[in-house]
Amino acid sequence: MTTGSMKQLIEEHLSSATHLSKRHVHPRLLKMFELGGMSATFTRAEGQYLWDKDGARYLDLLAGGGVFFIGRNHPRVNAALRDVLELELPNLCVVNASALGGLLAERLLELAGPQFSKVVFANSGSEAIEVCIRFTRYMTRRRRFLYLTGAFHGRTSGAISLCGFEQMKEGQDPMMPVCTSVRPNDIEALRRELSKGDVASLFIEPVQGMTTTVMDADYMREAQALCERYGTVLVADEIQTGLGRTGSWFASTGMGVKPGMMTISKTLSGGQVPISAVVMSEEVYEGVYSKFKNGPIYFSTFAENNLAMASALATVEALKAIDAPARARDLGEQLRGGLIELAKRYDCIDRISGKGLMIAVYFKGSKRLALRVQQETIGAVDPGAFAAAVNFDMFSKQRVIVQIPGPEINAIKILPPVTISEEDVRYFLGAFEDTISGYYKTGGPVLTLASGAVKDALRSVKKMIPGMGGAGPDLSDPVPVASPSRDRRPTAKADLLESNEPVTAEAVTANAPTPTPTPTPEDPVKKKFDRRGPRAVS
Ligand SMILES: Cc1ncc(COP(=O)(O)O)c(C=O)c1O
Repeated sequence: MTTGSMKQLIEEHLSSATHLSKRHVHPRLLKMFELGGMSATFTRAEGQYLWDKDGARYLDLLAGGGVFFIGRNHPRVNAALRDVLELELPNLCVVNASALGGLLAERLLELAGPQFSKVVFANSGSEAIEVCIRFTRYMTRRRRFLYLTGAFHGRTSGAISLCGFEQMKEGQDPMMPVCTSVRPNDIEALRRELSKGDVASLFIEPVQGMTTTVMDADYMREAQALCERYGTVLVADEIQTGLGRTGSWFASTGMGVKPGMMTISKTLSGGQVPISAVVMSEEVYEGVYSKFKNGPIYFSTFAENNLAMASALATVEALKAIDAPARARDLGEQLRGGLIELAKRYDCIDRISGKGLMIAVYFKGSKRLALRVQQETIGAVDPGAFAAAVNFDMFSKQRVIVQIPGPEINAIKILPPVTISEEDVRYFLGAFEDTISGYYKTGGPVLTLASGAVKDALRSVKKMIPGMGGAGPDLSDPVPVASPSRDRRPTAKADLLESNEPVTAEAVTANAPTPTPTPTPEDPVKKKFDRRGPRAVS
């Protein structure tokens, strides 16, 4: 197939992606997103933006789950990929060393620090975690692994065994024996487990991807000391945090910690080619490879392929050129500062967590009765339902893509590209305030979820509220009913009701009509908020 014919094929089918995927790939997952109001056909991507087939621009703060930290279609990364293809290089020769792989390993070791001496490449985050499981089991001859509650290390069999969310492991027993969870930042719990002397490795995300819990630097340093004392390998999972996102090249080394192994993935190849890497100390390398016959103990067919290596080299250079860690710190402070201000004004915001450009906003019940009743109603069905509504409104009304970080977590999370502009920061803060303030004014996101499981729950709640069918206590703040006629998405609910899918809390919440946001003119954040939508960084 020539390049021309591929271009033609893409052009002809780009806007039928949903249709094709529904038929042949994963219709259930797509349906889930559709019910969550997250359906759009994107046809163009650049930097921090996506454009749909009608030309509408979205500010993408999800960034493919964090892989586009350097921005989508970064010119330097794309040029590197074109160069590799034009040079018609030898690739995946198996018996020969790869020059690009060697160069990338050298760059990663420079960034990671002198405690590391070797790099193993793989194709995904989960695969990198499997490398750590296998290497540490082999070198220590121990069978037990420690992980933290709230942790996420991937979805392969070994990695999911280290997952700190029980609901994600449901129906998959038996998992890898023997894995024990301990609470984050609880050094005594860690000491108790490690002192048993049977733990091969301890897996820690310095900032947890799912919960955005930040490990204390003291905790991390003490964890390292305990691991050294009891012969356990400390594995820092930097698949999400690595390469500048939290304000230092690696979050763990930024805290002065020296893990035995460190995993890197997401950001590494500019999002263009699957890749992961494990950097390790000489002690770990020798512990596994000192026996000559162990050479092929780990091998993965596509790891160290030219396209992955070249795009990663270009990404690392691009990140260095803009001093990505400093930029992430600075933009992170701007975002956090703005969100903290909003938390002072809107009491449904519980706290802001995370570090650098890895931020979550946690929600709680408002003191404003009108809102709280609705939050409790949907919260009874799914603890993360309020966040799901925010997620939906940010997407459909504000064209800002954020995410729900994990199961039953009542928070939205952002992983912005490091290339976002200050104007993007203001836009996000304005859009977020529009969304939240609307819930205080005209009924909230939840009262109109009058279908399925929530409908029943609402009926009983309504009885408690004056003006809504019941005598109830004397409430000075009655819940206003949002008018369905304000819902400019009439097909969303119809789709849901016609669907054969079970009605889930996420789906119901996602289809809630929300009031049109009303700006508050005196608000300084709002003043700066450009209502024309996000603009590209020049
Ligand atoms: C910290 C962490 N570890 C591991 C993984 C798994 O990576 P992958 O999805 O590439 O297998 C992820 C993915 O989100 C992650 O954030």
